[in-house]
Amino acid sequence: MLAGKRILLIIGGGIAAFKALELIRRLREQGATVTPVLTGAAEQFVTPLSASALAARKVYRDLFDLTDEAEMGHIELSRDADLVVVAPATADLMAKMANGLANDLASTLLMATDKRVLIAPAMNVRMWLHPANQRNLAALEGDGILRVGPDEGDMACGEYGPGRMAEPLAIVEAVVDALGDGPLRGRHVLVTSGPTHEPIDPVRYIANRSSGAQGTAIARALAALGADVTFVTGPADVPPPAGVRVVPVRTAAEMLEAVQAALPAEAAIFAAAVADWRVASATTSKLKKDGSGKPPQIEFAENPDILATVAAMKTGRPTLVVGFAAETDDVRSNATAKRQRKGCDWIVANDVSPATGIMGGTENAVTLITGDGAEDWPRMSKDMVASRLAARLAEALGK
Ligand code: C5P
Repeated sequence: MLAGKRILLIIGGGIAAFKALELIRRLREQGATVTPVLTGAAEQFVTPLSASALAARKVYRDLFDLTDEAEMGHIELSRDADLVVVAPATADLMAKMANGLANDLASTLLMATDKRVLIAPAMNVRMWLHPANQRNLAALEGDGILRVGPDEGDMACGEYGPGRMAEPLAIVEAVVDALGDGPLRGRHVLVTSGPTHEPIDPVRYIANRSSGAQGTAIARALAALGADVTFVTGPADVPPPAGVRVVPVRTAAEMLEAVQAALPAEAAIFAAAVADWRVASATTSKLKKDGSGKPPQIEFAENPDILATVAAMKTGRPTLVVGFAAETDDVRSNATAKRQRKGCDWIVANDVSPATGIMGGTENAVTLITGDGAEDWPRMSKDMVASRLAARLAEALGK
């Protein structure tokens, strides 16, 4: 079931670490290759030798081990996997992950990876229920981290409740699910998201109110269907999802360049709120009041239309090019005209007039315009819009 899959297994320092050894065996039985990484605390519970013997591979332990860096750097190690599994995920490891700490090999790999991460938490029931841990858990879930367990039952410390690490076979099942053959498995999809910032001078810029929430949700939903997602994002309010290739950009020009560099892709979804105009000659020194009382004259130049540029490609055009249309009136007719004008296949249109509360909100009510006409979707969460759009895209791309 896991033939050819590469698992980076981070073993945390808890009594459940002994079960991680069985997990290595179970994953290998399914055909996976397992590369174990031990935290310092994990070595108090299991030895590197047992992990290495069971994995039949080198075990990684130290961020500053120069031999390891010469053979394989920690960044490469964090990317050289199909899935990162943390078992047991201790309260300490979860806190580090939730807060972006990177002060040892395990936490650095978790920060550096561009792959999905599955955690199998294990800790004392009071620690599990502690508000700090629950806060960290909520943050991790918001980041798109996958989770299996914990189970409820008798614990090594003599207490009873939730906190026992999921059994190795249940973790294997969660790994299979995480790597499962979604309909978009291995298909490259490009998503743009967020606002752009167009500089006026070194300290000022022109921006817009896009939070990046809808584009982020779409990238996450596509990744959940197995797509290999390149996520080109302007400076958004929300963090990018896990398990996608993130390309941060600032300006529209940088976004176009990043999009062109990321192609070819089977589908491209342009959810970014790109500034239509940039300042024609942004200055390299800060604009100053000159005492004359006259404001500076700022000239604008038109930005490239990224969606229209990609939609018009003669060779290497993605099979499906999807644009967005944020309208304040006549949504359907304006969006239908925009689909023609931009040359894209689909337009996801929404009414952003202030009364709808959609701009910056968590819900969206969209109309999908395709070559076959317009469909009004009921108002739903941006996450649901994203899942539905991802499913439609998978259907349209077919096998
Ligand atoms: O023309 P308008 O800005 O309404 O078009 C919105 C759609 O076009 C969105 O999909 C947006 O991502 C895309 N767009 C673009 N490059 C621009 C302007 C808009 O890709 N410069």
